[in-house]
Amino acid sequence: MSGGRLREPIRFLVFSASLRRDSLNTKLADLAATAVETNGGDVTVARMRDFDCPSYDLDVQNEDGFPPGAEEFRRQLEACHGFVVASPEYNASMPGTIKNLIDWASRFRPQPFDGRHGLLLSASPSLAGGNRGLWALRVPLEHLGARIFPDMFSLAMAHKAFAGEQIADEALRGRFEKNVQAFLSLAEAAKHYPCIKRAWVEFLGEPPGAGEDRVDPVAP
Ligand SMILES: Cc1cc2nc3c(=O)[nH]c(=O)nc-3n(C[C@H](O)[C@H](O)[C@H](O)COP(=O)(O)O)c2cc1C
Repeated sequence: MSGGRLREPIRFLVFSASLRRDSLNTKLADLAATAVETNGGDVTVARMRDFDCPSYDLDVQNEDGFPPGAEEFRRQLEACHGFVVASPEYNASMPGTIKNLIDWASRFRPQPFDGRHGLLLSASPSLAGGNRGLWALRVPLEHLGARIFPDMFSLAMAHKAFAGEQIADEALRGRFEKNVQAFLSLAEAAKHYPCIKRAWVEFLGEPPGAGEDRVDPVAP
């Protein structure tokens, strides 16, 4: 990436993990979508409602297959190189809705998070901006082989932080922009210079053959 632009477009799925109509996280996700586009990325914006799923149940999966929300999430994820999610913090963790969606999506083969780049954002009225929820959200995503960008942006006092559709504070707005740009640079570098050999197995030390329903085939 030079001069703040990608050399060629890379597509990102951008969505908010909140179902709420006036969601602060949806507002932040929309800002992220604009920032990705401004910096040369292609964007698909989705809403959490498109991905609504019943509580995960292996019996339901075995008897009825995947719910339409999980199918749609997989379709949109697979059409992208990476994703940006703005997630609320609920009780110092992620909302159950997004964990449930991750659980459903993790059952597809090939497993769609594997190798995809992810940027985590949050917005909360609290002073920590929902950052604890993002540390919780990293765990299942990294476990599933997603490359979650080290820096996460958490908008504190989010109910007062916007001026119209923008982040009101100029310095904070600059920090947000730089965070998105840095993420795009890494996703682009990884696309052009793939240097990390991928071999996603749920537990690397697991004896081959054990728990096969949880293991992706590994290239020799
Ligand atoms: C069930 C529940 C639990 C919450 N727990 C937290 C919390 O632990 N930390 C926090 O900063 N905000 C918490 N909040 C407040 C949310 O951050 C706030 O409602 C926020 O606006 C939700 O995001 P949204 O606007 O994108 O829907 C909680 C809200 C709900 C409904």
